[in-house]
Amino acid sequence: MKNYKNVFVFDHPLIKHKVSILRDKNTGMKEFRELIEEITTMMTYESMRNVQLVPVTVETPLEVTTQYRVPEESVAIVPILRAGLGMVNGVHKVFPTARVGHIGMYRDEQTLEPQEYYCKLPDGIENKTVFLVDPMLATGGSACDALAALKKRGCKNIRFMAIIGAPEGVSKVAEAHPDIPVYVSTLDRQLNENGYILPGLGDAGDRLFGTK
Ligand code: PRP
Ligand code: URA
Repeated sequence: MKNYKNVFVFDHPLIKHKVSILRDKNTGMKEFRELIEEITTMMTYESMRNVQLVPVTVETPLEVTTQYRVPEESVAIVPILRAGLGMVNGVHKVFPTARVGHIGMYRDEQTLEPQEYYCKLPDGIENKTVFLVDPMLATGGSACDALAALKKRGCKNIRFMAIIGAPEGVSKVAEAHPDIPVYVSTLDRQLNENGYILPGLGDAGDRLFGTK
């Protein structure tokens, strides 16, 4: 895969450790859900390194000082349904008051083309820092369309976070949306002929919600 300026792959040993358990087919639904949440929290910290802070005046027991805070009310989370739901609590651990919007996408299993079936976003989202989240970035179709949907509704400051990315999907999103930072915890080898990521972790939605 080419080097893209807007793509950030995490290389943290703790993330590697947790992703290795996540992939294991013997990891059950409860642990899978907890791991997705924990990895998302770690990714949220890392992805906020360059965030714009605002000065605030704080009175300590000893004196008045100028400190710096993230304007928390300026953050929104948008999971791509269904599997993105598993990442919402992970971002909420860092930004508990972030509003949540939802974009519903499913991949047509024959064509692998994404279909949008739902979109409900918080008022004022166009002025917020939006975390678009989905554990799996496979062909990149769902992420590309979800990003286009958010841009169409006026969002200007979006970051996309996926736990596992395939090179094909990462390249597609990076090229279609060069203005969007793309964070993936782990870059996998390739897609198989059915659009599944290898080595991957299987169907994230099914593993999160126990549907298969
Ligand atoms: C999965 C995943 C992504 C999409 C990735 O969702 O959660 O949304 O596939 O594939 P792509 O990069 O090729 O578009 P799926 O369509 O299985 O729906 P689900 O979340 O309801 O299980
Ligand atoms: N969606 C998933 O849940 N898993 C994959 O490997 C690809 C798309």
